[in-house]
Amino acid sequence: MTPAASQPRTLETAASASAETVLAGDSLSFAYADGSPVFSEVSLAIRRREIVCLLGGSGCGKSTLLRTLAGLERPAAGQVAFLGQPCSAPHPRSALVFQQASLLPWLNVADNVRFGLDFRHQPRIAAEARERRVAEAITAVGLAGRERAWPAELSGGQAQRVALARALAREPELLFADEPFSALDAITRAEMQALLVELVHRWHAAVLLVTHDIDEAILVADRILLMGSRPSRIHREWTVDIPHPREADAAAVTALRLSILGALRESTTGA
Ligand SMILES: Nc1ncnc2c1ncn2[C@@H]1O[C@H](COP(=O)(O)OP(=O)(O)O)[C@@H](O)[C@H]1O
Ligand SMILES: [Mg+2]
Repeated sequence: MTPAASQPRTLETAASASAETVLAGDSLSFAYADGSPVFSEVSLAIRRREIVCLLGGSGCGKSTLLRTLAGLERPAAGQVAFLGQPCSAPHPRSALVFQQASLLPWLNVADNVRFGLDFRHQPRIAAEARERRVAEAITAVGLAGRERAWPAELSGGQAQRVALARALAREPELLFADEPFSALDAITRAEMQALLVELVHRWHAAVLLVTHDIDEAILVADRILLMGSRPSRIHREWTVDIPHPREADAAAVTALRLSILGALRESTTGA
């Protein structure tokens, strides 16, 4: 764990993004139709296999920034590059997970996961490879044997496991996750956080995880970006190099939590 002050900032512009960069946002600004700016001049880069947490209070613009980076919203200024190419629509090598699992209730678990491979622009996959991907993803999230279960039969945690499997089956370079565990109870949430870290390492994916939960960010992130109030910017950045499982190093976790809390207080009071 190292505070931002002692780390070189790793903001790369879209133009200068290295081969190791999956996603680069360059000087992004955004305003909703009513005209008030949500964020301005935000630049960030996510490297291959890196878990980046975007942390900030409710309403500071985290979801809007994630949606802009994911190609679901168009920025007022700036640009997004995915694997070095300008990108203004959801990229086939990206996948999304939201707070609600958003499973199709008329499809069973396996069909919901398979559905993730049917998006437009998804590279064509041979039937055999498709079935292998579906089976592997379902097993990886711990739902082997539940392939024929209906969404209505699943707990909230199991539904989120299906959503995660649906995303992983696409073998994404980058997973966008917006508060994916915040509707779950504390024990299930902790299980899912550990599962996310394990799976994205195994799938070699990078992650942009939006959260308002400092502890979640500390437990999963390789890097934490703190977003402040409107018009928002990224105020601070921490590189987290505490080995997993991080709960084991209580002193390092506590020191990082205090550092983030202090910065959060500064960014919300404008100090
Ligand atoms: N569709 C919308 N139209 C207008 N304003 C919106 C819309 N969605 C969100 N906002 C506003 O933009 C700001 C940022 O929202 P959001 O990105 O959802 O924040 P966060 O995810 O950090 O809670 C909030 O003030 C919110 O009220
Ligand atoms: Mg949000």
